[in-house]
Amino acid sequence: MCGIVGIVGTNPVAMQVVDALKRLEYRGYDSAGVATLENGHLTRLRAEGKLRNLELKLSQAPLTGAIGIGHTRWATHGRPNETNAHPHATDKLAVVHNGIIENFRPLKAELTAKGVVFETETDTEVVAQLVTDELRQGKTPMEAVAATLPRLRGAFALAFLFEGEENQLIGARHGAPLAVGYGEGEMYLGSDAPALSPFTDEVSYLEDGDWAVLTRDGVEIRDAGGHPVDRPRQTIPQGQFTANKGNHRHFMAKEIYEQPEVVARTIAHYVDFAEGRMRPLDLPVSFAALTRLSITACGGSYYAALVAKYWFEKLARLPVEIDVASEFRYREAPLEAGQLALFVSQSGETADTLASLHYAKAQGQHVVSVVNVPGSTMARDSAVVTPTLAGPEISVASTKATTCQYAVLLCLAILAGRQRGTLSLDDERRLVAALATVPGTMSDALKLEDMIEPYAREIARAHDVLYMGRGTSYPVALEGALKLKELSYIHAEGYAAGEFKHGPIALIDETVPVIVIAPHDAVFEKTVSNMQEVAARGGRILLITDALGSQEAAMDTMGTIVMPDCDPVVAPIVYAVAVQLLAYHTAVFMGKDVDQPRNLAKSVTVE
Ligand code: M6R
Repeated sequence: MCGIVGIVGTNPVAMQVVDALKRLEYRGYDSAGVATLENGHLTRLRAEGKLRNLELKLSQAPLTGAIGIGHTRWATHGRPNETNAHPHATDKLAVVHNGIIENFRPLKAELTAKGVVFETETDTEVVAQLVTDELRQGKTPMEAVAATLPRLRGAFALAFLFEGEENQLIGARHGAPLAVGYGEGEMYLGSDAPALSPFTDEVSYLEDGDWAVLTRDGVEIRDAGGHPVDRPRQTIPQGQFTANKGNHRHFMAKEIYEQPEVVARTIAHYVDFAEGRMRPLDLPVSFAALTRLSITACGGSYYAALVAKYWFEKLARLPVEIDVASEFRYREAPLEAGQLALFVSQSGETADTLASLHYAKAQGQHVVSVVNVPGSTMARDSAVVTPTLAGPEISVASTKATTCQYAVLLCLAILAGRQRGTLSLDDERRLVAALATVPGTMSDALKLEDMIEPYAREIARAHDVLYMGRGTSYPVALEGALKLKELSYIHAEGYAAGEFKHGPIALIDETVPVIVIAPHDAVFEKTVSNMQEVAARGGRILLITDALGSQEAAMDTMGTIVMPDCDPVVAPIVYAVAVQLLAYHTAVFMGKDVDQPRNLAKSVTVE
């Protein structure tokens, strides 16, 4: 993953670089570094851990160069220590890298045979050494980079700073995003456009294979063949990044509490409440023309896709094939041309999801994506974007973007049902009425926070926690387990309630809390039977249900969280709030780093 930045500036740039890196910390926070040129000579400073450690070092020993590059790391090759921190440097250059150089081993062997001594465990150092090797043969920086890029395999974005070159930065993109920013006598490079927003709102996005030479006067972009190309300048909306926790202790808390508002905004984008109808969407193909739908995503977005499978199949009688993108991309799934492939992603930059999207496109699929970040690669590479309007999500664990994904996918399923004739106008009106209740019901669910918090204290003592649910509550169980793992590092798994007896029930004893997601819906009684099988074996059950469910099935083991009543069709959106709060408070109680959990990054741009 990692975030990279480059600035050809007019004043000392180190703190500007750090400012941009702060906006990229969602890509990783294992270490950070910056390099500048002072009187033509490379100087660099790196620090293990979060950006604030680098800031501290810079405050003690400022770098003064007016041209520089910077990096915030999510470790792929090599431990997250200072030695492996970027920029990597030789006596001739410094380089920052996002992505993976897949063929670094043979390249390293080749360079080692030539006598090059490597200092780090990273794949990136081979890039520094390869370009240096070309420079030693008398090539210019541009020629050296041009000669090196075709030798690299994998997905990467790079930014180079050269000894003695006070007015030249080189950036390259191959499978990982890189934006060029235009300033007044200054030019910028960044892994995304919002990173550059303190300096400029004019950017162009490099395309795959492009490399760019930046000077204070502008940029020259070339494609993989070395031909000069124009990449259109775009104006990015300001305010895409608001690093503001409001009155909350963590971004995650703020984002949990924003949900009624952003889910309302998202639903209103798709629903005409005055008419009680879905708004028509300009999709590349009608749902009526489809024989199947594929949905692909990763992590929490995949669980949203799994909820959507239930919705599309039930409401629109449309068979849905879903897959995690890391599997889909290499599965060589046969796809009938002309069908619809849906991709779900908060960031729009997840490498596996993007690769799957490109595969689907190549197989003649109409590509639509449910994306939260406007202008992201996925948004740009899709025929149509059906946006989630969650606004910037800073906390690594997704909350508001996830529930907005649920909302969009439910709207699409209703639309599909209408287009396919499986839902009548009355059905549509009933479902729209259910959607209308969601923001208010989510607000009511948030009022349960004080009631949920004591359960979190109990969960915090466990080593293993199991979640179960049936139907659309099954993906919510998976989501709950993911949130708990991500935030508290407690081992947690989600299961389809009916699957428990096929193995997981062997794990049950009085030390393992089992969290049962069970709104009083069509499968409630079945879930309750499975819950009783667990209770009969000494399991401690925390039941999350509604008033009727609690009346019929509350158990005297761990407890019951009584959720506000809602139409079962929208229950996943509402019940997500409870599992979020439970995971959040467990992590807070355990003193974990809620917004930036260990080993994770917000946007996973490596495969
Ligand atoms: O940006 P994306 O939605 O494509 O990201 C996919 C996953 O990496 C993401 O959902 C991850 O699982 C979150 N940390 C979940 O909280």
